[in-house]
Amino acid sequence: MAIQTVAVIGASGNVGAPTVQALLAAGFKVTAISRTTSTATFPPSVTVIKADLSSIESLTSAFKDQDAVIVTTATSEVDKQTILVDAAVAAGVKRFIPSEFGHAFPKLSGGLAAILSAKAKVAEYIEEKARAHQEFTWTTIATSPFFDWGLDHGLWGINLKEKTARVIDSGDELVSTSTLGFVAQTIVSVLQREEETKNKLIEVVEFNVSQNEVLRTFEEETGSKLEVQVLSGKELGRAGEEKLAKGDVWAAFFDLLLAWSFADGGNHAVKEDELANTQLGLKGQSVREAIRKYIKTCSG
Ligand SMILES: NC(=O)c1ccc[n+]([C@@H]2O[C@H](COP(=O)([O-])OP(=O)(O)OC[C@H]3O[C@@H](n4cnc5c(N)ncnc54)[C@H](OP(=O)(O)O)[C@@H]3O)[C@@H](O)[C@H]2O)c1
Repeated sequence: MAIQTVAVIGASGNVGAPTVQALLAAGFKVTAISRTTSTATFPPSVTVIKADLSSIESLTSAFKDQDAVIVTTATSEVDKQTILVDAAVAAGVKRFIPSEFGHAFPKLSGGLAAILSAKAKVAEYIEEKARAHQEFTWTTIATSPFFDWGLDHGLWGINLKEKTARVIDSGDELVSTSTLGFVAQTIVSVLQREEETKNKLIEVVEFNVSQNEVLRTFEEETGSKLEVQVLSGKELGRAGEEKLAKGDVWAAFFDLLLAWSFADGGNHAVKEDELANTQLGLKGQSVREAIRKYIKTCSG
């Protein structure tokens, strides 16, 4: 029988909240599994279970009767997913989607790969469990950095209030990106295509765009010129590795991510033939549509 019941852990978060909306709109029966200490609230049609995310008994009971478990917990928590996998196997869950939603980790290298190694380890653990339990399957979803979330968190270097922009190197390097709404649609499409997406790392991207195109489109759409500061990708990469060596992991992560994604010659934009967009029937927005929507959200 097709997947009908879906449990989402981290359902109130950046990825979790739009995912819950998209799942409900697509007709899935959604259960939010939230920490016992959480004060998060959910739409009325969502069943809410408070669970101890460190207890196999608590999680196995919470996953009972769930066809799929989607993990969208915070980055700081991704190394704690093996217990979720064990509980999903014990409860007879058919599909497990781990908290990934970034660059496809097999493609990463250096400090960035080291920082995200917990995600790769979890993926290995899931594969091992799926080999041992035929009925337990998984899909890992790589989406590249988020566009709208990245605008809010300084990734794209656009500051509409200050009318400033930051560009790394020439600003012409093509970068892959997806909005949170697109990520949510991808999760729905994966669950609707159970057989095609079984035991696979799926890569999707809403659009490839350069920093200069983002900058130009913001200027055109707001009618304001932005004052541009240029940073060196090599310098950022070096600073990131230094911070990492000193143990300042999250500051290092930001520098390394910027350098990896935006520096000239990185050539990390995902190629058309690597993408599952068509297979999943996904239709994204254009860069301009995403920017218009973002500006509207900021001013509304
Ligand atoms: N590609 C990108 O640009 C990008 C950007 C951001 C994140 N991501 C990835 O997307 C996934 C989801 O991240 P997110 O940003 O959506 O997560 P988030 O909003 O930071 O957190 C999601 C949920 O995790 C739960 N949680 C469990 N333990 C927590 C703790 N100790 N502190 C805070 N929250 C905790 C909370 O739900 P309850 O309160 O209901 O328990 C929270 O709402 C991660 O794998 C992350 O690495 C990718």
